[in-house]
Amino acid sequence: MPDQYAVIGNPIRHSKSPAIHAEFARQTGQDLTYVALSAEPDEFETIVQRFRHEGGRGMNVTLPFKHRAFALASERSARAVEADAANTLSFRDSVVAADNTDGAGLVRDLTSNLGCALRDARILLLGAGGAAYGVCGPLLGQRPARLVIANRTVEKAVALCERFRRAHAGVALDALSFGALSAERFEIVINATSAGLHAESPPLPSGVFAAGALAYDMVYGRATPFLDFAQREGARIADGLGMLVEQAAESFFIWRGVRPQTAPVIALLGSS
Ligand code: ATR
Repeated sequence: MPDQYAVIGNPIRHSKSPAIHAEFARQTGQDLTYVALSAEPDEFETIVQRFRHEGGRGMNVTLPFKHRAFALASERSARAVEADAANTLSFRDSVVAADNTDGAGLVRDLTSNLGCALRDARILLLGAGGAAYGVCGPLLGQRPARLVIANRTVEKAVALCERFRRAHAGVALDALSFGALSAERFEIVINATSAGLHAESPPLPSGVFAAGALAYDMVYGRATPFLDFAQREGARIADGLGMLVEQAAESFFIWRGVRPQTAPVIALLGSS
């Protein structure tokens, strides 16, 4: 019987993860199945444990369960601890191991696919919710010159900075309100807010993009007001499809010990 994997979340119907992992398995000749499971809020732990006890080998976890996946685990990687959330669970005997591949996926998309140098760059991260927590550590690990976190509720950006500052003392890390950004310029601006899902954009001032800057929206598959604004400002733009495929590749590597090629899968999904 093939090894079984799944992604769990709510909503999950439109998840691209089954198609991505099916493509990875085909490409690398791995014998596995990968399905999407929906869970109501009170069912998450029960469904994970059932899947595991029925022989499942691993799961991806998406919104809104990443923190609960972290809490449920018996072992946690350093990057899951930093993010306080897990998107990847591995089941081995009595062990439930949690990891978080979101930040590594973003970093790989920015550096390998989009050709951005993160070292010594000025990076602006918009948002201070779960999505921002998931990527902050790996971004700081690239040793940018500066990382600014801007959030509508500025106290949450301050708390995020406090959490990461000690472990990344070599990087200038600041929390700002959107209003305080008018004197600032960045080479990379990453939207980790959920504003795009409501057809809104964080209120960015004109001129926030340095010449040749990249605007990156972690939301994928839709035109967002943030990317529209960035394009009007002359920035290069990218959505989160590459991050989605890269975080999946990192999970696949954890489970199977093989690194699939991501470029053909990004091209395939981008054209569908
Ligand atoms: P996630 O886990 O996806 O990050 P979240 O924890 O609910 O979701 O966080 C959503 C983020 O998007 C927050 O940073 C939120 O800002 P607040 O902390 O001020 O609520 C941000 N956000 C949502 N809608 C927004 C909007 N219209 N403009 C600016 N920021 C927005």
